[in-house]
Amino acid sequence: MLKQELLLAPSVLSANFAHLEQDIKRVESSGAKILHLDVMDGHFVPNISFGPAVVKTIRGITMLPLDVHLMIEKPDQYLEQFKDAGADILTVHAEACTHLHRTVSKIKELGMNAGVSINPATSLGTIKEILPFVDLLLVMSVNPGFGGQKFIETSLAKIKSLSTMITDQKLQTVIEVDGGIDTTTIQKVIAVGAHYLVAGNAVFGNGNIETNFTHLTTLMKK
Ligand code: DX5
Ligand code: ZN
Repeated sequence: MLKQELLLAPSVLSANFAHLEQDIKRVESSGAKILHLDVMDGHFVPNISFGPAVVKTIRGITMLPLDVHLMIEKPDQYLEQFKDAGADILTVHAEACTHLHRTVSKIKELGMNAGVSINPATSLGTIKEILPFVDLLLVMSVNPGFGGQKFIETSLAKIKSLSTMITDQKLQTVIEVDGGIDTTTIQKVIAVGAHYLVAGNAVFGNGNIETNFTHLTTLMKK
């Protein structure tokens, strides 16, 4: 079971893949407790990133929990592969799953923490029924597919409502927020109840990984 704790989750999508191991070691030595891995298929989202083989390679580089965000169609076909690759949290998009409860159940049967994500245009009503069954609910605060996009401000009200839903139902669900998290938005999402804060560009973008990581985590404590 996951804990409702504040964590900065660096997204390696914005790392330099020419020296991925070095970039991962740098966030690790900066104090990262989790790594966010974005899998994109060119169908569910317009971009293609990487698949289970790269997740497995990363598993061989670090002991950090791997938070794998699947932005793919038909995720059911790949759940075992991501388990074998070493995923600790496996998140699927509600929009990509016809039988979401079945998919979430399968992820848990495989021994992983189950996450469900929703796009900016998807209402919280969509996840109301699945909420008691998931370990993590990932609110996209940009349209998924690319790093470095602008935070969609209306996500704040959505995160707040989700936080209330979780508290009212006495659940322990972790709220993760992904997209446009930087020094100007991180405190706002924390204030409305977010726990895991994904940051790609703000951590890896300019290459000053340690400075960026420390700055963001300092803001998280204020
Ligand atoms: C976007 C991905 C994100 C991405 C975030 O589709 O799901 O995880 O890496 O990037 P930033 O933090 O740059 O918005
Ligand atoms: Zn992501």
